[in-house]
Amino acid sequence: MPSYVITGVSRGLGWEFLKRLSSDSGNTVIGIVRDKAPTTKRVEEELDGRANITILEADVTRYESLKRAAAEAAAINGGSLDYLIANAGLNMSWDGLDPIGDLSAAEPEKMTDYFGAMMNTNVLANINLYASFMPLVLEGKDKKVVHLTSALGDVDFARDYNLTLGSVYAASKAAMNMVTAKFAAQYRGDGVLFLGVCPGVVDTGQFNLSPEEMAKFAPMLQKWQSYAPDFKGPVSPDVAVTDVLVVVEKCSVDKGDSGAILSHFGNKQWL
Ligand SMILES: NC(=O)c1ccc[n+]([C@@H]2O[C@H](COP(=O)([O-])OP(=O)(O)OC[C@H]3O[C@@H](n4cnc5c(N)ncnc54)[C@H](OP(=O)(O)O)[C@@H]3O)[C@@H](O)[C@H]2O)c1
Repeated sequence: MPSYVITGVSRGLGWEFLKRLSSDSGNTVIGIVRDKAPTTKRVEEELDGRANITILEADVTRYESLKRAAAEAAAINGGSLDYLIANAGLNMSWDGLDPIGDLSAAEPEKMTDYFGAMMNTNVLANINLYASFMPLVLEGKDKKVVHLTSALGDVDFARDYNLTLGSVYAASKAAMNMVTAKFAAQYRGDGVLFLGVCPGVVDTGQFNLSPEEMAKFAPMLQKWQSYAPDFKGPVSPDVAVTDVLVVVEKCSVDKGDSGAILSHFGNKQWL
């Protein structure tokens, strides 16, 4: 039965992946968190301490802690891994409501720090994560490596719909999409599938906006609705995880999917 490593399982989509994948007792599920104690307690309380779950501690921005987690995962699963899910990341926050030029002009030093943190967590950490776990993935049967990308990282979508918000976050996802293509190019011959899958718009707590924030967010919402008139708003993590896993299961190196950046529909329809 397959083995999974998922980063960022303390909350949001990561917790949902952990819960879903461990519901099959044949799966081996390893979740990575920054702070082990609260997630271990949550697994005890909400999932009856499922025996097929192991929680490991690593800050994904710290190379040494990733190497340690990879060694621990290898020991748990006999040196191999079937699925690596790079879920941990920073969602948009400071850049969520104001356009990039305004942010940089008003607070250039904050831009430097914010940009660095976003790139470090959403891009560099995943490069180091992939490199640390590749020896295990190469020994695995399914050999699938997935990151949670975003529609906002699609350059054409931003151009066609004048999407100004979430700029730094979007740039980090676009950069990670290119990293995915590069890993795919390197490891396609070894049968390893690399994908970026957008989970859709998912309510993991980031949409609790004040009336003032909502006024800034509303134009983005209107653009999304003009792109997809059927768009009904954020879905639950439960729905999103189902969608992402269907896409991951359908894709394969043999079908030419490695390096692809896909929506929760398995195509380029983002909403
Ligand atoms: N929600 C959406 O609508 C949406 C849409 C498109 C893509 N995504 C992507 O999907 C992924 C999950 O999103 P989400 O909404 O579930 O996010 P979330 O609720 O903010 O959770 C983020 C997770 O990442 C972890 N994390 C952050 N920095 C970390 C670090 N340095 N080391 C280890 N773990 C770290 C957090 O751990 P702590 O609890 O320790 O902070 C948390 O578990 C992200 O990559 C996001 O960009 C989400």
